[in-house]
Amino acid sequence: MIRTLYFRLVVTFIGVVFISLVISFFTADILYRQDIEKQIQQTIVRQGKEIISLYQQNPSKNIDSYLKSISRLHYDIWLFTNSKNGKYFSVNSKKTSAPFTNKDIQFVKKGGIYYGKPNTKSFQVVGLPFQINNQPHALFIKLNELRFSEKINQIVHTILYSVFIIGSILILIASQYLVRPLKAMTSATKKLSQGNFDIHLEVKQKNELGTLAHSFNRMAKELRELEQMRQDFVSNVSHEIQSPLTSIRGYSEMLKDQTISIEERTAFLDIIQQETERLSRLSENLLKLASLESNHHPFHAESYRLDEQLRRLVAFLEPQWSKKQLKVTVKLEKITVFADQDQLSQVWLNLLSNSIKFTPDEGSIHIQLTNTERQIIVQVTDTGIGIPKDVQPHIFDRFYTGDPARNRLKSGNGLGLSIAKKIVELHDGQIKVDSEEGKTTTFTVTLPKQI
Ligand SMILES: Nc1ncnc2c1ncn2[C@@H]1O[C@H](COP(=O)(O)OP(=O)(O)O)[C@@H](O)[C@H]1O
Ligand SMILES: [Mg+2]
Repeated sequence: MIRTLYFRLVVTFIGVVFISLVISFFTADILYRQDIEKQIQQTIVRQGKEIISLYQQNPSKNIDSYLKSISRLHYDIWLFTNSKNGKYFSVNSKKTSAPFTNKDIQFVKKGGIYYGKPNTKSFQVVGLPFQINNQPHALFIKLNELRFSEKINQIVHTILYSVFIIGSILILIASQYLVRPLKAMTSATKKLSQGNFDIHLEVKQKNELGTLAHSFNRMAKELRELEQMRQDFVSNVSHEIQSPLTSIRGYSEMLKDQTISIEERTAFLDIIQQETERLSRLSENLLKLASLESNHHPFHAESYRLDEQLRRLVAFLEPQWSKKQLKVTVKLEKITVFADQDQLSQVWLNLLSNSIKFTPDEGSIHIQLTNTERQIIVQVTDTGIGIPKDVQPHIFDRFYTGDPARNRLKSGNGLGLSIAKKIVELHDGQIKVDSEEGKTTTFTVTLPKQI
């Protein structure tokens, strides 16, 4: 309980309210108490002077009975001829002890006005000089009953307590609203960690918590997609491994037959060899892709002539394109790049072998290298089977080998373009495809000049 956010919020808020109230109480007390006390004392002085002048207008009156009737207006009154000889008039039967000293009495008799000490209860006492039959007396008046300062204190205390209590109750309620979305998020996180990615938090608020919930939903969605990708990947890999293995098993079974001819035997062995090569290519490509995606892939950039690299690769692939009687043309500007030579070589090899693979006999392939102000552009165009518009966004996906009905070659495993894309992106470049189905395909790789 003590560790919950709710508890801490409530305690913090209440603490803050309490401290502010205490500080404001003392500030107000310092600022206003003296003023109020002074005003009250001045009022008593005015009333005292009135009491004296009323008597002096009619001095034949008996002073004792006069002061006695005045005291019924809620005054405690002391009258001194000298410091030892004093009379006390009050409606209270209990005698209030005089809050002043002999010195104060002498002071008033000589004509001074005495004010009770501030910040104590006796501030409500004032002393006034009083001439009775030309004899100096000292008259002390105290307001009783009307306890001004106590009333004020009471009011202030009531306000403080009610602010404190009402504030605390409201904070108890308000904190629940604050903590509720966090609780929802915590339970959602628990679900996530248990592998349940089907989570959607209701976002009602537009504040920081709302933003957090939004990000949370986005994260859950991405995790969901990642999980889907992982599952697809595993099933794709298993499928890619399974089909060559099935064919190897089938053909090796057939090889056991003693009656088959030498030619057939060689053909079967050729297929088995092709399938094992396909398997080894698959594992090689998978390793390559995993390494490229791990961000720890070694990146050895160096300066080299890109046009020469492309020319070399075209020559290297000569046996394949001349077998299909393809017409290969190149237009290469002289360009030196700063890049990972081995990695880019994979990109070009894949683009070129795709073009060779997907272009029918006697078709043509054109390779162009252009140098612009900011970019280096490599384009590989072929007059092959083309790629339908709806398929184009998928060709860079892992294991995508196109429509099985169209792609009868089935020699690839659909990893080539994803590897190429990854490498180009590592070079801060872009790869895109333009194609017209049945006619032509152009792959364009753009590399920035400063890498
Ligand atoms: N030049 C091209 N002409 C037509 N289709 C292409 C071309 N290049 C790639 N494709 C399509 O994109 C798919 C993915 O290519 P890639 O990733 O290199 O896989 P693979 O070459 O192993 O099939 C190919 O299977 C093919 O359907
Ligand atoms: Mg390929």
